[in-house]
Amino acid sequence: MLLLGALAILRSVVSANAFEPAINYQLHCQGCHLADGRATPDLVPAIDPTLGRMMRVPEGRDYLVRLPNVAAAQIDAADTAALLNWLLARFAAHDLPEGFDPISADEVLAGRTAPLVDVAGARAAVLRRVSEPSP
Ligand code: HEC
Repeated sequence: MLLLGALAILRSVVSANAFEPAINYQLHCQGCHLADGRATPDLVPAIDPTLGRMMRVPEGRDYLVRLPNVAAAQIDAADTAALLNWLLARFAAHDLPEGFDPISADEVLAGRTAPLVDVAGARAAVLRRVSEPSP
């Protein structure tokens, strides 16, 4: 009986969490990135499949967690990691590398210690790395 109760609680926690990234996106990201991640010209870039391609190299993961508004998000590291993995699945699923290892809370914590200053430069460097032939 006790076990069944524990399982029910666990299930409700798991299903409650399943909605959290979408809500966190609304609360912390959507004001700038809009509901569908589209660009606002000259202000905010689109969240699009390019991001999935960028996850093929370690520098791309690093870029994602060090983005200023990601590194400064007022949610804990585990929820931020869940949000980023949700974001990648929602906007860039087809371009994610095979066997993509989800972004972890530890990576988010590391990113928070060193937010990007030159976002455009870091992005260009990641895209250069992605287009290099693999060794
Ligand atoms: C205050 C506006 C604002 C908020 C809030 C915001 N962003 Fe951004 N985001 C930007 C801008 C502007 C850029 C372009 C890079 C830069 O200047 O920081 C960007 C860039 C990005 C990119 C890079 C896209 C690419 O292809 O290089 C991602 C991914 C992203 N944001 C995710 C998020 C997530 C996740 C959140 C919520 C935790 C968030 N952003 C909150 C404004 C915002």
